[in-house]
Amino acid sequence: MSSLEIDFNTLIEGKPMKIMVDTTPVCLVKIKEEVFAVEDTCSHSEASLSEGELNGYRIECWLHGAEFDLRTGEAVVPPAVAPLKRFIVERNSDQLLIHHPNSQVKENK
Ligand code: FES
Repeated sequence: MSSLEIDFNTLIEGKPMKIMVDTTPVCLVKIKEEVFAVEDTCSHSEASLSEGELNGYRIECWLHGAEFDLRTGEAVVPPAVAPLKRFIVERNSDQLLIHHPNSQVKENK
């Protein structure tokens, strides 16, 4: 299994939350009723992004100040340059399903 179910109401607006999807730490953030999920490990030097600060749709790494856009995973402020892996968030009422991006099953029929 490469997914995790979580209750939408456990998330606090603007407060990053770290969860595990299989063995991968994931940073979940609720902003204006939308939920974003990116890998929790900073692409610069492995700090936990869920311990960082939010700045709009950006999350700032507490260790060296890199910022990532939660909507795209893109590194927008150095020293990080590599993007973060984004996870897929499916919402069904108050139930969220967080998928590993590699586990997405594509049906091309
Ligand atoms: S570890 Fe995140 S910016 Fe350096």
